[in-house]
Amino acid sequence: MKARLLELAGPRPTLGEARSALLDEAFEDLAAAPEHAEEHRLDVLDAGCGRRSPLLRYRDRIRRFAGADLHPPAPGELDYLDSFVRADLCRDADAFPPGSMDLVLSNFTLEHFADPAAALANMARWLRPGGRLVVTTVNRRHPFVGAYLSLPARLRGWLQRLVRPADAHPLVGACNDPQAVAVALRGAGLEAVRVETVGHLARAWARRWPTLLLGLLGDLAAGPFPGRRSTILATGSAPAR
Ligand SMILES: C[S@@+](CC[C@H](N)C(=O)[O-])C[C@H]1O[C@@H](n2cnc3c(N)ncnc32)[C@H](O)[C@@H]1O
Repeated sequence: MKARLLELAGPRPTLGEARSALLDEAFEDLAAAPEHAEEHRLDVLDAGCGRRSPLLRYRDRIRRFAGADLHPPAPGELDYLDSFVRADLCRDADAFPPGSMDLVLSNFTLEHFADPAAALANMARWLRPGGRLVVTTVNRRHPFVGAYLSLPARLRGWLQRLVRPADAHPLVGACNDPQAVAVALRGAGLEAVRVETVGHLARAWARRWPTLLLGLLGDLAAGPFPGRRSTILATGSAPAR
């Protein structure tokens, strides 16, 4: 019933569809580069990988699959990674060698960073020339997201655990509107920066009926106003040599 409601009323593309489009494009472009002429497989990093990675579906197109997070995965989680590094992405610039990754994904991590500029600069530094960064994060220009981020930290934490118990890492929201994300990616030295938005509240809050219906209302209300949709997707490329 919930799935049907989301299908009927949820705006398209979904976050999953929009993110897959950016990742598909990145895999196709990067695997076609001359340095991958022999083996069309990429070195990728899920930066802030948490407990699951959207990059898993590309496993057979990945040569080296690295994950990094403040918290190590539980035994058995993220078994598909080739390596896991426990790192603070805002501080640990040496977590990976410069120029060692073809693709870095930051999936719902930017909103948690105390120093987003430093974290993005690190991710950009780890990219090879021409390598790609893909970011998803929340948009505080959506009225519900903005109101949520303005709540006292304690109340926000309680609400966060209610709707997203698995991902209850504290939110900061220091770089969380479409323009700020674009400026931050360019500030990290990335080129060809593109930013888009999708409505994702109903799906994100689908665990309970009241939050699902509230999310649906939020998605439908913001749908006609791209700058106010709940979720930001962005991409940029490291300068080619
Ligand atoms: C909302 S979860 C998203 C997890 C995963 N990317 C996903 O899509 O399911 C945010 C993740 O970012 C990690 N994180 C937050 N701040 C971080 C930092 N400064 N350095 C490394 N990881 C961080 C958290 O530990 C958490 O696993």
